[in-house]
Amino acid sequence: MSKPSELQTNPADFSGVDVYAVAGNPIAHSKSPTIHRRFAQQTAQAMHYGMLMPELGEFAKAANTFFAAGGKGMNVTVPFKLDAQALADVLTPRAKLAGAVNTLWQHEGLLYGDNTDGAGLVRDLQAQGIALANASICILGAGGAVRGVLGPLLEQKPQSIIIANRSIDKAQDLQQAFQAMADAHGVLLTVCPVDALGSQSKHAAIDLIINATAAGLSNDSPLSDAIAQQILRPTVFAYDMVYGTVTHFMQQAINQGCRVSDGLGMLVEQAADAFLLWRGAALAQQLNARAVLDELRQALATKAP
Ligand code: ATR
Repeated sequence: MSKPSELQTNPADFSGVDVYAVAGNPIAHSKSPTIHRRFAQQTAQAMHYGMLMPELGEFAKAANTFFAAGGKGMNVTVPFKLDAQALADVLTPRAKLAGAVNTLWQHEGLLYGDNTDGAGLVRDLQAQGIALANASICILGAGGAVRGVLGPLLEQKPQSIIIANRSIDKAQDLQQAFQAMADAHGVLLTVCPVDALGSQSKHAAIDLIINATAAGLSNDSPLSDAIAQQILRPTVFAYDMVYGTVTHFMQQAINQGCRVSDGLGMLVEQAADAFLLWRGAALAQQLNARAVLDELRQALATKAP
């Protein structure tokens, strides 16, 4: 039985067009093929974008096979971003800082790795009218998702970033890794156990709270209702990196009168950056990421409230 076309990713099967793919496990529900195909239409690029689902532990083999067969570029998602970083011959500074790679491409025999997640988040926030310069930001979580976005957020020179996590040691590790960058940008970088949010006066001044924990995936929230009521005021913008659903965290924020957003815009914007890395920055003029985001929202029928 032949595979569905979106799972056909052997570059040898597509003569005359450049072949790209997203690799993850699981991958069937990835929105990346839809997004990149729309970008290709908008910018009149002849390319095919498929999916790859390597077995766990087999990312390097799958990626090497794909690039050896002529694959031009690859997006990498859970759980292979660290494997992709290890595989790349050359890392961009932001990929090094993020400790993970979500975009690979081949150039003159070398495999390049970048991380566009943080830039995608920043652009989505900006597109929603959120001013980051001088803002007081709280990030919930201290895992790979936070590491991936801290650098680009610090570059926007917010006044402060609090990393609030269930396990404080992981938050402290991140603080240590990013302290020099925070100092260089004049940002006050602090950590806090998530249960202690609300205990200090500075927590009352949060402008933007970003849920980057995995809690949303199980419809849980890192915030207890009591803490949510304490720190979420109507002036707070509450962003969840999970997309396609109103998470418990988003609902807590809605109940407090906050503006909220899921992470679908971040997904589209990180894809836009990857697309431009592969196909050339000049195409930015023709690429309309927000239009693709609107189309996806309509398809998901889960318009952010
Ligand atoms: P990712 O790469 O998606 O960030 P990760 O590195 O496993 O995944 O990190 C998951 C993050 O979500 C961690 O910050 C984790 O908190 P701990 O460091 O205390 O484990 C957080 N997390 C996951 N489930 C959570 C929950 N139910 N409540 C609060 N935090 C949660």
